[in-house]
Amino acid sequence: MRILVTAGPTREPIDAVRFISNRSSGKMGYALASEAAERGHQVVLISGPVSLPTPNVMRVKHVETAAEMLCAVQEELPACRALIMSAAVADWRPSQPVAEKLKKRCMADSLSLERTADILATVVDLKEDRIYVGFAAETGELLQEAQRKLEEKHLDLIVANDVSRSDSGFGTDTNQAVIISADGHRTDLPLMSKAALAAHILAWIESAADVA
Ligand code: CTP
Repeated sequence: MRILVTAGPTREPIDAVRFISNRSSGKMGYALASEAAERGHQVVLISGPVSLPTPNVMRVKHVETAAEMLCAVQEELPACRALIMSAAVADWRPSQPVAEKLKKRCMADSLSLERTADILATVVDLKEDRIYVGFAAETGELLQEAQRKLEEKHLDLIVANDVSRSDSGFGTDTNQAVIISADGHRTDLPLMSKAALAAHILAWIESAADVA
């Protein structure tokens, strides 16, 4: 099947040299893209800025901002059976980015923020029989927050992990995740490599696609 994977952070420009972003390394999304391709799927990877080798997949689109990521998702999603939103999309962006470098004395005045589009919420109309998988990277209330996002974003599966742990989340090669499906099933996975977690998630998607 064709699978759309988003990965990495987005960057929201403040001025010519500064941006708002987050700690995402892109490792989880790249592990998912590689694993899906190895399992014989056609993979379209939409990646924010990361320092990782490009995986061997059908197509890679590089984007910077949440708005660019949304456009790329809207373009690719109609031909895909599944969407895995592992990107850590910035939730806020400067409302008036400027083309030149701001002087520090002007910075405080210039930093008013506005919300970026929520990509999953925006593509809810395209869901039909597509499988949507989201991530919840939390520092507290892991299960409640994951359950809320699963429902609010109309996901089929959410992968929740506690990013305050040193062996899980941003930049690490391992993850300890809880996966919760829309039918109420919850699986607490042990600490494992991001590649192994990717295999669990892909196996779940393959069985969900078979029964759909
Ligand atoms: N997501 C998205 N568009 C955004 C922000 C997040 O599609 N603008 C997706 C992420 O890729 C992830 C899921 O939504 O799959 C949950 O992201 P998360 O950052 O954990 O949650 P938020 O929606 O930002 O909610 P909150 O700030 O309340 O934690």
